[in-house]
Amino acid sequence: MHGEVIPTGAALGAEIKGLDLSKPLTALETDLIREAWLDHSVLLFRDQTLDDDALIEFSRRFGKLELSPASADDAAGGQVNSQPEIWIISNVVEEGQPIGALGDKEADWHTDMSYVEEPPMGSVLYSLEVPEVGGNTSFANMYKAYEQLPAVLREAARELTCHHDSSTTSVGETRVGFEGVWDVRDAPGAVHPMVRTHPETGGLALYLGRRRNSYIPGLELEDSEDLLDELWAHCTKPEFAWTHRWKKGDLVMWDNRCAIHRRDAFSPRVRRVMHRTQISGDKPR
Ligand code: SIN
Repeated sequence: MHGEVIPTGAALGAEIKGLDLSKPLTALETDLIREAWLDHSVLLFRDQTLDDDALIEFSRRFGKLELSPASADDAAGGQVNSQPEIWIISNVVEEGQPIGALGDKEADWHTDMSYVEEPPMGSVLYSLEVPEVGGNTSFANMYKAYEQLPAVLREAARELTCHHDSSTTSVGETRVGFEGVWDVRDAPGAVHPMVRTHPETGGLALYLGRRRNSYIPGLELEDSEDLLDELWAHCTKPEFAWTHRWKKGDLVMWDNRCAIHRRDAFSPRVRRVMHRTQISGDKPR
């Protein structure tokens, strides 16, 4: 068996060296990856050469795949050339049509698709073209963020839920078929526990989704806003985070149940093309 796990030394993340993901993985290699994923929440594999079939095949080793999320860019013609499991994330425009979603803007801290009842447990992102500068992706450890909350806040958070808005993407665009949110208490989406128990590790993790348009049911609006601001200021502290600077051929897989992520903006004059799959999950509890 091949595969060496090298932790980043930050609050989460590890690189796995020595595996060619375009080849079928053995059961032992799959187990090594799954164990490292549960231990480190985010895994990096460098120098991979994968077509979409191989990316889907690799992702399926870890669970059933979701179809890709709709986004504002899809309405403008993006995603038409991809398989339904692949979400193209790109700023490239061909013949007047974006080939993918999210463009070149900063994507705020978030957990993928937490606005659905059963959000994907994991996401797998593969880089085909990346800029020299910008477009880095950062991850933060929500087990540690939960553990290091002041005790009173930790106890309070366990009693609360959070409403996750489905109308707006992480770059602030309104999704196709949705209207803008005027009152966060009326936003569409799903309600989940603010602290979830990871179904495989048993660990407790803050589960906040994204800051924009979120709401804590049962609280006055002002109290909900204040508490969410406090929780987000805490969980996005640098000590919980690790930043990945992409190279072509990198594959990063992350665990949405215990990690959040964000992306830096980059120049509209450079190309960034990424393909992502989403591994199905269960209802947060
Ligand atoms: C995402 O999945 O939120 C996008 C991350 C990225 O483009 O690096």
